[in-house]
Amino acid sequence: MIIAANLKTNLTRAKTAQYINEVENFLNKNAISQEVLVFPAPSSLTLHVGKVTIGAQNAYAAQNGAFTGEIGNEQLEEFNIKTILIGHSERRHVIGETQEEIVKKFNFYKELGFKIVYCIGESLQIREAGDKVMMEYLYSQFDGIDIEYENLIVAYEPIWAIGTGVVPTSEDIVSVHLKLKEKCKAPLLYGGSVKVSNANVLLGLDGVDGVLIGGAALIADDFCAMVEFAQQIENK
Ligand code: PGA
Repeated sequence: MIIAANLKTNLTRAKTAQYINEVENFLNKNAISQEVLVFPAPSSLTLHVGKVTIGAQNAYAAQNGAFTGEIGNEQLEEFNIKTILIGHSERRHVIGETQEEIVKKFNFYKELGFKIVYCIGESLQIREAGDKVMMEYLYSQFDGIDIEYENLIVAYEPIWAIGTGVVPTSEDIVSVHLKLKEKCKAPLLYGGSVKVSNANVLLGLDGVDGVLIGGAALIADDFCAMVEFAQQIENK
């Protein structure tokens, strides 16, 4: 399974280094064979060799250039980073990234062979409009995206579940995941208020190939506990 930590705008460079070390030690000591991804803040990106894969939460669709406040592939290459998160709802709805900009970014990093964790998710208003409207909306977030890209991972994250402590019912997650899987064969993660107390159940659901964790991943011990759940489920 794929277990990913989105650290967002949290932890200093020193604390992130400590965090990655702790997770790396855990993976080695416990013979973990799950795919573990960590997305630190851009100022905490680091060259890391080991079982933990470090990814960028965002980067501009350019090698380098005049893009004040952004980082490009040149800054990722410095740390040998080949994994990126694209389309996260905070980038779509807080920062205001459009589908067009997201597609540009996707294509740029796809051309470079990056592993792309591509996020989609609906608002509460759209969910309440019913299944048909919701699935159409989710599919529309695939517009312009090569869903057959071999290094693609999709993360389904309902916006109303992110950072709220509210999680869809297991039935709803399974239903959305199975429908998304009919359309796109890439591994499919669930994200939105995943925590130690629910990760075991979520990871065991049909159609769930892993989780993308925000707030509850900030403590390395908690993140490792959730990685261990995935390992136990796979060992069964
Ligand atoms: P959360 O965030 O786990 O804090 O809800 C998930 C995400 O934004 O990827």
